[in-house]
Amino acid sequence: MSDNQFVIVKFEPTTSYFQQKKFDCGNKIINKFVHSSLKKQVSQHFSQAFILLDLEENERFSAFYTLTSFKLQANELERLSKGSLPRDIPCVRLVMLGVNLSLQGHGIGRKMMSDALHRVHRASKEIGVYGLYLDADPAATNFYLSLGFTRLDNGGSNDVAKMFLSIEVINQLLG
Ligand SMILES: CC(C)(COP(=O)(O)OP(=O)(O)OC[C@H]1O[C@@H](n2cnc3c(N)ncnc32)[C@H](O)[C@@H]1OP(=O)(O)O)[C@@H](O)C(=O)NCCC(=O)NCCS
Repeated sequence: MSDNQFVIVKFEPTTSYFQQKKFDCGNKIINKFVHSSLKKQVSQHFSQAFILLDLEENERFSAFYTLTSFKLQANELERLSKGSLPRDIPCVRLVMLGVNLSLQGHGIGRKMMSDALHRVHRASKEIGVYGLYLDADPAATNFYLSLGFTRLDNGGSNDVAKMFLSIEVINQLLG
């Protein structure tokens, strides 16, 4: 697996991607979304998606994530102890992230998240963005914690976790 084996591109809803319909990250909901809903979501401007193509496998659709705009309530950010905040906090939300099973555990998820953080960083220069929010699948919570996200809720390890990374931290991470 080499660095130039993969390229991340913006998903174009009018393009057919090799093996998009066979994408399998091990999560049924995410797989179904890729097979049946991704195209419509993007063409209707509800999300933007960014996909990883494997150049050694005929540009196979191998990983993806989606971003939307989002609003958090100030009280949901209490754990960050930021003092007084306006009631509505503008954020970017990462809605879906998946890596094909055959490629998991090789740093692709981290690479996709790095790409997402760069996009959020750039967007925050054009429009107010306080941070990146996501609902993490229980199996992926540790993955996001390892990237610097804070858990916002008090849920258990079997619950979906509300996770947040502030733009301040994103800017520090990106130097
Ligand atoms: C979660 C997911 C995107 C991670 O992708 P990946 O390519 O396997 O992750 P990476 O290889 O980049 O791993 C990055 C780090 O996170 C860790 N990690 C990855 N998945 C993890 C998990 N489920 N639990 C704990 N740690 C995990 C890795 O060990 C690695 O740590 P290291 O850099 O210290 O070695 C991938 O497993 C996936 O698609 N899962 C199914 C769908 C899913 O759960 N999506 C997220 C929904 S919120």
